[in-house]
Amino acid sequence: MSAPEDFVRTIRGVVGAEPFVGLHVPDITEREKQRVRECLDSTFVSSVGAFVTEFEQGVADFTGARHAIAVSNGTSALQVALELVGAGEGDDVIVPALSFVATANAVSHTGAQPYFVDSDETTLGLSVGAVADVLRSARSTSEGLVNAATGRRIAAIVPMHTLGHPMHIAELVALAGEYEIPVVEDAAESLGSRVGEVHTGTFGRLGILSFNGNKILTTGGGGMILTDDDELARRARHLTTTAKLPHRWEFEHDEVAYNYRMPNLNAALGVAQLERLPGFLADKRRLAARYQAAFLGAPDVEFLTEPQGTESNYWLCAVRVAGGLARRNALLEAANDAGLQCRPFWNLLHAQAPYRHLPHAPLPVAETLHASVVCLPSSPALAAA
Ligand SMILES: Cc1ncc(COP(=O)(O)O)c(C=O)c1O
Repeated sequence: MSAPEDFVRTIRGVVGAEPFVGLHVPDITEREKQRVRECLDSTFVSSVGAFVTEFEQGVADFTGARHAIAVSNGTSALQVALELVGAGEGDDVIVPALSFVATANAVSHTGAQPYFVDSDETTLGLSVGAVADVLRSARSTSEGLVNAATGRRIAAIVPMHTLGHPMHIAELVALAGEYEIPVVEDAAESLGSRVGEVHTGTFGRLGILSFNGNKILTTGGGGMILTDDDELARRARHLTTTAKLPHRWEFEHDEVAYNYRMPNLNAALGVAQLERLPGFLADKRRLAARYQAAFLGAPDVEFLTEPQGTESNYWLCAVRVAGGLARRNALLEAANDAGLQCRPFWNLLHAQAPYRHLPHAPLPVAETLHASVVCLPSSPALAAA
């Protein structure tokens, strides 16, 4: 087994000699500052403004989604998307146990409960086979399909494209279709990732993106709801803008809704970042290729590559290491001691305090992945290091 020093040396060989190398650092140039200054000068800094519309149109064009609705973050985007497909009190929503806590929290915010299902060894995303097991054993009732493990209606399935690698989304959508269960894609990490020509986040009834500071494109904080459905898009816009009825001066609201719209100031940053997205994606692929080549000789460290037939944005480059949790932690410690900000996967959601009490499906693959994956410094600028 290669020593932690070898691990550190290999990463250093790719990222260069800077004393501290962050996991994923935003890349902000004079162009971003210029657009944000324009926004400030306009005084339209809040949620009404031309940058929001321009950013939405730009993301719609880039992803091929018919509609893109800009919101305050990825979590609120996912909550609203789930509410739009009818998830709420008394329901289950199938989510991967291997995800950031926001995936489960968005489900909880709707009043529904997450039901955690296992991952796929190669894509790192929700296992279609494991979802099929849940659906096959479920009871068909007048209210819908009822989860045999919980007695609750399964309202939706939320796949996630882990680290930017597309999961088997077409297969999942086909399976969910057989049971008439809506799919809402958590594409928070996968802006720029495609299956064939089709962008992640556009397979399900709705999809969501995140533009948090650590994402491939940032608006500081922000998110986007994607859908091809005109009515869902109209509802998404209405629900995220306090359900205000259009009028020149009256404040009339027709339901309890949210103030979740993306401020213009954030969208100005997003518009400038979006111009640079093709460059970020090219840099990420170069960085991934360099890591892959560097780790080729290490028999117990495997660089994680995009699943066949897909194009990943390589949001976070990562390796799978042998030796279980103890070895993973030894490598993390050595790398972080050496100024290389490496991170494990998130602790599995079924083991997190708010969700520990919930029933869940068997999770053997998620547990193995959790104990063996290390994420590497992945800022696009490192491609030139
Ligand atoms: C998988 C996943 N889902 C949801 C989110 C939530 O996005 P946000 O932080 O913009 O709320 C994130 C990232 O932050 C994420 O990685």
